Amino acid sequence: MTAEFIPLIEPEIRGNELKYVRECLETGWVSSAGAYVDRFEQMVAQQTGSRHAIATVNGTSALHVALLVAGVQPDDEVLVSTLTFIAPVNAIRYVGAWPVFVDAEPDFWQMDPERVIEFLEKECRWTEGALYNRHTKRRVTAIIPVHILGHPVDLDPILAVARKFGLKVIEDATEGLGATYKDRPLGSLADIGCFSFNGNKIITTGGGGMIVTDNEEWARKSKYLTTQAKDDPIEYIHGEIGYNYRLPNLLAAMGCAQMEQLVEFVATKRQIAACYSQKLANVPGIVPMKAAPWAGSTYWMYTILIEEDVYRMDSRQLMRKLGSQKIQSRPLWQPIHKSPAYASTNIVDLPVAEGLFRRALSIPCSVGLSDPGQDRVITALTS
Ligand SMILES: Cc1ncc(COP(=O)(O)O)c(C=O)c1O
Repeated sequence: MTAEFIPLIEPEIRGNELKYVRECLETGWVSSAGAYVDRFEQMVAQQTGSRHAIATVNGTSALHVALLVAGVQPDDEVLVSTLTFIAPVNAIRYVGAWPVFVDAEPDFWQMDPERVIEFLEKECRWTEGALYNRHTKRRVTAIIPVHILGHPVDLDPILAVARKFGLKVIEDATEGLGATYKDRPLGSLADIGCFSFNGNKIITTGGGGMIVTDNEEWARKSKYLTTQAKDDPIEYIHGEIGYNYRLPNLLAAMGCAQMEQLVEFVATKRQIAACYSQKLANVPGIVPMKAAPWAGSTYWMYTILIEEDVYRMDSRQLMRKLGSQKIQSRPLWQPIHKSPAYASTNIVDLPVAEGLFRRALSIPCSVGLSDPGQDRVITALTS
């Protein structure tokens, strides 16, 4: 018998998804207005403890609009994690601002608060009520900590230094729905937060995103900008340049069904992670993923580090070996300061992120991963 393919991560559709989507199809409420959009927004607002939630077509558009409503201007600088999927960095460029890449810390692989503080305190100058990068002379106005892999960034020191210099903090919590920092849900800890419901996320709408904030004016502006900045829906008068970023009802219907299962999905992810962490703890050359004491991680993407001298194989060789056994795995993202797309932006060495990129490998961790499937992965890693 040939072994079945084990994907890295796949959606789990086993609740009311079909029922709610069918209702949209049968009633004709398929587009960017409808009760499911409001309901989905309420569910995410409640889950994150935020006053407002605004649904968007994807996480990238949520980040774009978050930067706009936070007032980031062309030629400003925004600090952002270098070890991330590229979307938040692209969103910084969409508004004409520039990324300042921040290295990861070595333990939990998140944006390093010490590097943020060091840059703001030592490399910037406070002049006439604003903070300027001493080298580029640009104004620094915001920070985007990206909570990667379902684990929180250590946010308190970042929030404290941001307050000191009047910077806005936009949480990229796209990978962190359901996770907590010091018992508080990600997305609601700073000025504004963004989520993604892409197919590989902990819940999915196929494609979708959400902005959450307690700031009423920013919420109003986000809804306005995501619906083409329409001032008059009859005469089609537009107050400014807007975007067609509103999530369709059809997808929000799926989102509602997925949200109903979030608690269960998080619990399953944690079980999968606990099993990997236990079984891989003593394997020479494999460092299992860790969680900080203040983290309520969802282990959205379970990731290990390979010490190639000890394991006698590097992460890419291991990826190919697993692939030959029909087990999918994947390295982390190339740190964005090394990406050809940003090569001319910043010439810096960010050694922790670069090391993690070489050594890390994400392994199968779908909510639907079976026990025999997980055993097969563990056997492949340990044999
Ligand atoms: C950290 C991070 N930010 C932003 C995004 C963008 O979300 P989307 O793909 O929904 O645009 C993603 C994932 O896709 C992500 O992992």
